[in-house]
Amino acid sequence: MKKIVVIGSLNMDFVIETPHRPRGGETVQGSSVSQVPGGKGANQAYAAGKLGGDVRMIGAVGDDGPGEALKGNLERAGVDTEGIATISGEATGQAFITVDESGENSIVIIAGTNACVTRELIQRSIRHIQESDIVIMQMEIPLDTVEYVKDLAVSLGKVVILDPAPARADLPDSLWKDVDFIKPNETELAILTGRQINSREEIEAGARQMLEKGVKHVIVTLGGEGCLIAADESMAWFPTKKVQAVDTTAAGDCFTAAFALALSKGESCEEAIRFGQSASAIAVTRKGAQTSIPTLEEVLAGEDGKPGRT
Ligand code: RIB
Repeated sequence: MKKIVVIGSLNMDFVIETPHRPRGGETVQGSSVSQVPGGKGANQAYAAGKLGGDVRMIGAVGDDGPGEALKGNLERAGVDTEGIATISGEATGQAFITVDESGENSIVIIAGTNACVTRELIQRSIRHIQESDIVIMQMEIPLDTVEYVKDLAVSLGKVVILDPAPARADLPDSLWKDVDFIKPNETELAILTGRQINSREEIEAGARQMLEKGVKHVIVTLGGEGCLIAADESMAWFPTKKVQAVDTTAAGDCFTAAFALALSKGESCEEAIRFGQSASAIAVTRKGAQTSIPTLEEVLAGEDGKPGRT
């Protein structure tokens, strides 16, 4: 099995459940508040570890209770946390998440120690990148670090998966060159391309625009509507099964991790997408970020094909 390294954020999520998410100037009555381990990077590392991958993570937490809890949770999923630095005097990253009755969320993040994941910090743990085959990143650490790791990983011949979330409109074109896979959802694709994305044709046009910037494969996830994978010579749509969503938090992270896990086992890109879809279809039926991630057995029981088998 190939080795996976995740470079990214760790957040303690403060999750508020409400009937609907407040509009500007509106006050709503919430029904509960809870703390759940999260952060896009940590969610992806946790999910890939829980699904049975050979996973390590590079990131940073504070010398505080949330930092300790986040590292402990990753370790229980079998993730090597040696590359997670503990920074004194800075708080662990936080996310404030409002989830409504339909399972949709709004998220505000406070970077905390995620802002400390600099090139220098990466250099201290560089062996984890050198020794891995698949490098996964997101955008909750400094952009300079993402660019640095991407260039390094490409030069070392690694498979690079970049989840461009949170998406921003000001990213340099050089970021995309030679990235093996990006995985925006339709909202993120609209931000990255500056396009209206309201139809399949517009999604395909947006994906083509990203291919022109040098990405090798663009996977656009559309929740219950499935996903598109686009490469230079091909476009393929993958429907997904309909489920009753309870909380969509980390469903995209679960998809990315399961996709990478399947690739690490030598599955094809198509099989990896189906495996990612099966895993995230379970995650949306459960509350929270890392609390929603299924086991390998649960994913295999819920899918038609057999990607993810050892
Ligand atoms: O993708 C979901 C994650 O986004 C949450 O866990 C939260 O921490 C934010 O980073």
